[in-house]
Amino acid sequence: MKSKEIAKNVFYAGVNDRQKALFENLWPLPAGVSYNSYLILDEKNVLIDTVDVCYSDIFLRKIAAILDGRSLDYLIINHMEPDHSGSIRLLRQQYPDVKIVGNVKTFDMLKGYHGITEGLHEVKDNDTLDIGSRKLSFHTAPMVHWIEVMFTYDPKEKILFSADAFGTFGALNGGIIDKDINIDPYREEIIRYYANIVGKYGNAVQKAMQKIAALEITTVCSTHGPVWRQHLPEAIALYNRMSRYEGEEGVTIVYGSMYGNTEQMADAIAYSLSENGIKNIVVHNAGKSHASYILADIFKYKGLIIGSPTYCNQLYPEIESILSKIEIRDIKDRLFGYFGSFSWAGTAVKKLSAFPEQMKWKVVAPPVEQRQGLLSESLEGCLALGKAMAEALAAEK
Ligand code: FEO
Repeated sequence: MKSKEIAKNVFYAGVNDRQKALFENLWPLPAGVSYNSYLILDEKNVLIDTVDVCYSDIFLRKIAAILDGRSLDYLIINHMEPDHSGSIRLLRQQYPDVKIVGNVKTFDMLKGYHGITEGLHEVKDNDTLDIGSRKLSFHTAPMVHWIEVMFTYDPKEKILFSADAFGTFGALNGGIIDKDINIDPYREEIIRYYANIVGKYGNAVQKAMQKIAALEITTVCSTHGPVWRQHLPEAIALYNRMSRYEGEEGVTIVYGSMYGNTEQMADAIAYSLSENGIKNIVVHNAGKSHASYILADIFKYKGLIIGSPTYCNQLYPEIESILSKIEIRDIKDRLFGYFGSFSWAGTAVKKLSAFPEQMKWKVVAPPVEQRQGLLSESLEGCLALGKAMAEALAAEK
């Protein structure tokens, strides 16, 4: 099997997973995902991260082919989540002398997941490891996305091995480096990956970004998706923006609807947004759109409007679920509007009213509450809500 040399003596050793339907058994993978690993050949040969255990066989064969009879001296573990650490035990069986490099938190997990406690080389923040023609350095990045995460920097090739940071969903279909790929699908998938996986940890991402700003970086090798080089400034700008929870001008409307009455309200609001100059409008039926995509759009756009019918005297269950996912991620600083409906006793709007207060979001207009079908009063309310959101977005420019 051929492995791409992404810089002199730095090889891609990752694998594609087009089998799994759901990442973390939660997030859809319509275009698969890659588990990236990298192998540096020098006086000491160094592997950075492994892959999901389901792909150990392919992975180990790749490593052997790149090494071509050389020894494997070090395995650096940037991240212990099993999609990257799953093959460590088998790797150790194949290469019993490989020294495992990680920090104190890595080794706690290495013991817990794999029972490995020997042949370890512990590093702290900013420590270096001389492997011959280059001195790799280590930079802890706790909570991007787990507590033990660290980045590894190769000053010779100016490469940052960034664990999950800058990762994307989507398998690598031949090309590995961004310049060799049509990057458009990954532009969407880096946002969805961030929103689903890393989005809760905006402050931690900000700290890590500040930390690496001191390094001269021309290439970023994440554990998922393309190697960033040509589009690296774009990826860094995106990460900076998303970790500060900055949304573009645009509105995500999320609604639940059993028979289409609440849906008509969503459509009226969307119409009004468009009439008032908003171009980026995404409307999600929460009973149909997967939360993975809804979260991606909520991270993307500054405006958010949520609507729910009253269901069993509660919020519509899928709306309740998306509110919980937003709350967990502590998404900041959205412009918010809300609406709802009921047939005989209204609860949904009342319940939604507590949410912006809790999230410390600005509410752009009074909520619209509809009894049964869309008649002129609720229609006017929806049009006014759309207009108020458009004006609030314009005022932010
Ligand atoms: Fe790709 Fe946090 O593991």
